[in-house]
Amino acid sequence: MNLDLFAPEELSDKRQQQLAQDAFVLHGFAAPYVAQLLPLLEAIQQVSPFRHLVTPGGFRMSVAMTCCGPLGWTSDRRGYRYSAVDPEHGRNWPPMPEIFLQLAQAAAAQAGFDDFQPDACLINRYQPGTKLSLHQDKDEQDYAAPIVSVSLGIPAIFLFGGQERSDKSVRVPLFHGDVVVWGGVDRLRYHGVLPLKEAEHPLLGRQRINLTFRKAA
Ligand code: SIN
Ligand code: FE2
Repeated sequence: MNLDLFAPEELSDKRQQQLAQDAFVLHGFAAPYVAQLLPLLEAIQQVSPFRHLVTPGGFRMSVAMTCCGPLGWTSDRRGYRYSAVDPEHGRNWPPMPEIFLQLAQAAAAQAGFDDFQPDACLINRYQPGTKLSLHQDKDEQDYAAPIVSVSLGIPAIFLFGGQERSDKSVRVPLFHGDVVVWGGVDRLRYHGVLPLKEAEHPLLGRQRINLTFRKAA
């Protein structure tokens, strides 16, 4: 028997984990893009700095956030919404770099979503201790498009739940370069991030940066 024949499939199985019918973790998928992403992220935050948004209920989010692309997500006492301008300075969000778009489209296609055309990239910064409570991504107008989520920096435990907040969730460890894609019948699943453990990443230091690409309009 030629065992070599089975090696590529075993490898791809390890690098691609199915969480649900239309939800996948693509382990290390973003690794080849990282060197190009980091200086672009630096340039974006020079224009639209990370900030701690306030929820409509008046709570300051522990995750710091900025955005790039035609639309950005924002929140204040009046509610959650997408906006073409960064409310910090009233001008457009920085454009979405071409390589961001290429990564998002390649990951979506790998998970079975062709022709993904994201118009928003949310950029979350987590420091040790920071968490993101279970929520659905439902401020977008188009649920036909998937969510593509890229993890950089220190590890996190991603929670992937069900259609109801009370449904059991699975714990998915995410590392630098991992990409999660969920769409189709799984598009509105609850998800979140457990409080990050203290850690230091050789390129990013004591932080995790998460990019989520969405089609908002
Ligand atoms: C999000 O749900 O918007 C971000 C998820 C993550 O940081 O992995
Ligand atoms: Fe989300």
